[in-house]
Amino acid sequence: MHVGLIMDGNGRWATRKGFDRIEGHKSGAKVVEEIIRSCSQAGVKTLTLYAFSTENWSRDKGEIKGLMDLFNYYISRHLTEMISNGIRIKFLGSKDGLQDKIVNLINNATEKSAYNDKFFLNIAINYGGRDEIVRAVRKIAKNVKNGLIDIDDIDEKTITSMLDTSSQKDPDLIIRTAGEQRLSNFLSWQSAYSEFYFSGLEWPEFNKTEFFKALESYKSRVRSFGAVAGE
Ligand code: FPP
Repeated sequence: MHVGLIMDGNGRWATRKGFDRIEGHKSGAKVVEEIIRSCSQAGVKTLTLYAFSTENWSRDKGEIKGLMDLFNYYISRHLTEMISNGIRIKFLGSKDGLQDKIVNLINNATEKSAYNDKFFLNIAINYGGRDEIVRAVRKIAKNVKNGLIDIDDIDEKTITSMLDTSSQKDPDLIIRTAGEQRLSNFLSWQSAYSEFYFSGLEWPEFNKTEFFKALESYKSRVRSFGAVAGE
């Protein structure tokens, strides 16, 4: 099973408590850890985290730096443990505009975990669903230009294979916290048949129990993929 997480509400949580926004992201990172640790028990094989969107660049510079430092700290600190636990880490998004430090972190974690297959952790940084589709279209156009693909052979599989998620299964369930009920440019192509679960809790308040509640809700739904329900 593949679950996508839109971890919203860190800033609101921090402001409500009278803290700096970055404290919300720090608490949010601890929740991420709890959720990752509960995935094998939950039967979740792939988890995609929406960590930083292409739209997030419009935030205050200090907050952006704080977030990048947090990714760096968390991923570096847990890399050895994640690798020895069979986790394959993949980054979704464009490396353009990211600091060298983050690009090195991404390359290192991707390479070192490339042969793992027990659990797939996708981290979307500088990611936007539309930007991902634009990049995929460019790759396809290049292949057409170079005579590697015939225009008439372009189909859904071609596009899927050119996305950052390439060979991975589409998300079965997308969870968003903090009461917002929209996708905000997350996995635009891949979410065509995903189920959604919206929690009113801000992300730092989310936890393993809430995660299991979301999974239970998902399991109780009949998934028809456009066919007659139940078939
Ligand atoms: C949205 O809340 C959250 C983010 C933009 C950042 C998510 C990052 C983490 C949870 C840090 C940990 C991640 C990893 C991969 C270690 P918001 O700031 O938009 O909240 P608001 O809507 O209340 O302002």
